[in-house]
Amino acid sequence: MILLNIDKKQHAGHLYQQIYKELKQKILDRKYHAHEKLPAKRALANQLDVSINTITNAYEQLLEEGYIYSIERSGYYIEDITQFVDYQTKTENLPEHLKEQPTDEEGWLSFSHMTANVDLFPFKDWLKSEKEAIKHHQAELAEIAHFQGPYQVRKRIAKLIGLNRGVICDPEQIILSVGTQPLIKQLFSTQSKNTVVAMESPGYSRIFSLLSQQLQLSIDLLSLDSNGVNIDEVEQSNADFLFVTPSHHFPTGEIMTISRRIELLNWTLKKENRYIIEDDYDSEFKYKTDNIPSLQSLDQHQRVIYLGTFSKSLLPSFRISYMVLPPNLLEIYREKHGNLIHYNNTLVLYTLHYFIQSGAYDSHIKRMNHQYDVKRTLLISELTTTFGNNISIKDIPAGLHFVAQFNTKKTYEEIERAAKGLKLEIYTMRRFYLKQQSDHSDDIELVIGFANIKEEDIKEAVERLYQVMY
Ligand SMILES: Cc1ncc(COP(=O)(O)O)c(C=O)c1O
Repeated sequence: MILLNIDKKQHAGHLYQQIYKELKQKILDRKYHAHEKLPAKRALANQLDVSINTITNAYEQLLEEGYIYSIERSGYYIEDITQFVDYQTKTENLPEHLKEQPTDEEGWLSFSHMTANVDLFPFKDWLKSEKEAIKHHQAELAEIAHFQGPYQVRKRIAKLIGLNRGVICDPEQIILSVGTQPLIKQLFSTQSKNTVVAMESPGYSRIFSLLSQQLQLSIDLLSLDSNGVNIDEVEQSNADFLFVTPSHHFPTGEIMTISRRIELLNWTLKKENRYIIEDDYDSEFKYKTDNIPSLQSLDQHQRVIYLGTFSKSLLPSFRISYMVLPPNLLEIYREKHGNLIHYNNTLVLYTLHYFIQSGAYDSHIKRMNHQYDVKRTLLISELTTTFGNNISIKDIPAGLHFVAQFNTKKTYEEIERAAKGLKLEIYTMRRFYLKQQSDHSDDIELVIGFANIKEEDIKEAVERLYQVMY
């Protein structure tokens, strides 16, 4: 007789699952012998006081999964299933140190440069654009997009960056993806392992670790001078690619001079297959004068790979970034990645298309330029009043962050610890110095982002920062 532990109060559907699970476990635990006969359905139904249907469902499921077999007009039998090598001991589930603790977000204020302002995001216009996308793109939503992203969306972006950034390109040259990092990864997967990439230090640490640790490429770290990346070091470097942020250097905020831009373009022509990667991450925001045209707009020889993103201009969580490839790199890219399944959400991309087409994008950028300018001015004024002679701010009216230097006796470690204790999110400059050896002075510098701090919280955040520093 089979002994099953069944809770009869359960719904009939669940009852069958209980019987199935109990039997399955007993078979796995080898409580029954191979080829042992199971009770007839009616007998088991009577014994357990359940319907025959319930037992039939349980037996059918076991049969389907191969735990039992049936012989016509005879009944059901236990299958001779393969034994596990080690069934008794069990490897620990998720070790404690890999478990994520719930984050305590209550009461935090943030000077992060990675965020955008969500309070002022025009969700109504975005949802209107999403409705349009659903209405007009039923067929496209039912399938996977072109591996570079839908052509219509690329065409819209090509027009946008042509107008706003002077980028000269055809929609065919645009590759859409879910972030700058995947784009860089795809780009370098078409290149040899001996490729040398030059980068500025201080610079974008996330791209540095991607290139050096994940992609294992040789990196030449170059310093900065008053015109941008140091040209003598660029000339000495035998790099194949140079990664720069000319419109608003990350993180110092400096704008690369026109002469340095031309020097860099000239440098690309001194070696075959040499390129500049222009990371144009926050150029939509320029406060006192007009936007500075992209470096790509000056390039006459197809030597610039342009990287753009909607992470700053819209929201970083949308994950819409793109790269504009020169024709010869595009050809290699297509050969290598033609089988790629496109990463972005097609609905989000068509929504973006209508958002730009309707004028909502331009209005949003205009409004945010004003809002960010007000906030930036307020924050700089509050910092200057509070810190007096102990602060020196690199006030470059562009982007969503600036660098400030502090006169303090505390070390970076002490400052980072104190900020945590006071629930203030800060980014210290040391994480952006990419060279191993100390290539920077002992001055304490912070990269201060202002996109996500509310105007009414600025005073409190600056007060906390003062306590952090002294
Ligand atoms: C220097 C720099 N480049 C690019 C990006 C954009 O990255 P993504 O497009 O992956 O959001 C950021 C984001 O904060 C950035 O700081």
